[in-house]
Amino acid sequence: MNKIDEANEFIKQNKAKVNPKYRLKYHLMGEYGWINDPNGFIQYKGNYHLFYQHYPYDAVWGPMHWGHAISKDLVKWFYLPLALAPEEDYDRDGCFSGSAIEKNGKLYLFYTGHIYTKKEKNDDYKQVQNMAISADGIAFEKYEKNPIIDVTQIPDKASKKDFRDPRIFKIGDTYYLLIGSNDEHGIGQILMYKSIDLIKWEFVNILLKGNEDTGINWECPDIVRFDDRDILFVSAQYMRPNGIYFKNTHSSIYFMGELNSEEGKFTYEDYWLVDYGFDFYAPQISVDKNGRIIMIAWMNMWETDLVTNRLGHNWAGAMTLPREVLAVDEKIHFRPISEITKYRKKEYSLQDLKLDGEMCLETIGTSYEIDVEFESLDAKEFGLKVRKGKKEETVLSYNCQESLFIFNRDRSGVGPKGERKTLVNLNEGRLRLRVFVDVSSVEVFINEGEEVMTGRIYPDSESINISIFSVGECRVLYLKKWDID
Ligand code: FRU
Repeated sequence: MNKIDEANEFIKQNKAKVNPKYRLKYHLMGEYGWINDPNGFIQYKGNYHLFYQHYPYDAVWGPMHWGHAISKDLVKWFYLPLALAPEEDYDRDGCFSGSAIEKNGKLYLFYTGHIYTKKEKNDDYKQVQNMAISADGIAFEKYEKNPIIDVTQIPDKASKKDFRDPRIFKIGDTYYLLIGSNDEHGIGQILMYKSIDLIKWEFVNILLKGNEDTGINWECPDIVRFDDRDILFVSAQYMRPNGIYFKNTHSSIYFMGELNSEEGKFTYEDYWLVDYGFDFYAPQISVDKNGRIIMIAWMNMWETDLVTNRLGHNWAGAMTLPREVLAVDEKIHFRPISEITKYRKKEYSLQDLKLDGEMCLETIGTSYEIDVEFESLDAKEFGLKVRKGKKEETVLSYNCQESLFIFNRDRSGVGPKGERKTLVNLNEGRLRLRVFVDVSSVEVFINEGEEVMTGRIYPDSESINISIFSVGECRVLYLKKWDID
């Protein structure tokens, strides 16, 4: 049996052993074992395809395979056989992250082969870029002359080790690859290569280099073009915290600016976090056939307690809800994909309510959406508590004096604690939230998606209450809640 068949067979034999307690209802997870980054996100022959970093044998990171799922609506996913497994000299210790493109009806995957160069010394490794091709979007054949870019094509002043996560895209007749890297001082940077046939690749330039604040290595680059601007995404390892921002160990950020593809240069004025919560990394973008720009990310964070692996639940890692990306003023905004509204069930609603104190809603749940709009009036603070039980609650609040939106998970159950804050201005005294709660996750879209905060929580299955609260008087203009499962 080859390694893909072996892994598929193992999953089939073992998937019933996954503990359902914290499994999500409307987010993508692996069937068994570990998953991290989304890979190869593309709409191809009528389906959205999402691949993901996957170690199928255990709920820990291990030699990476590519898991594979398809969907018509980005909510309901169906698993396909794994797409890639590490088994060749050029990818023997892992098929790391990468991306996809369609050419002449075929689906091409670009991924990094990870190779340890010394036995029992995992610090010594090299990374090369590989290609795999499929005619049906199900079975992939690795290109016979892999690697397509090897270490000899790494320029001076770029790490000879960290050279990964190829992002393929096309402008005119030319294909480009962006690759994550760092320089001789350990500063994150992106390398750009070009090709006319996807096979012979030539180094163009260092597209963009960070500074001491923006992390020691850049992973998972991505780029998207809007009418009047380009946006470059990177996942920066060990970014330096700045006030209330960049508090996670690693941060996914975006630069808004302009790509000069001829020279391989990206110019920008500023950068921002993509998500202001706790658990969001390695986002990947896909432009679908309707021109909609969709983002999906790993809904976890490296070097944190992922809980389900520690508790022996035989799975770890999940994807965010897919988000539509919109360019608004000098930033990007996010909107939950519209397809999710088709899954709304059992509407609960209340209207025009003055609130001073805390009020428990006459509805409960573990997986649902809430759409609510508050008017601050005289309140010092107001907000929402979800997954509330005898000893637990997850608090989403707005502090009017400091104009801060706060996601607090100190009492959210058995997972990591803490809070994340972000500056949010009210619109004529109003704050609108769309909150997506799933069994072990919370995603909050603030004011038409100006900002999003994502975090995992691990509350007791009995913690099902929802309340609204205000310190001083506020008005709840409306609140609607729908179950989603
Ligand atoms: C980012 C990352 C990538 C790498 C992959 C390995 O989360 O570290 O750089 O390709 O995960 O699983």
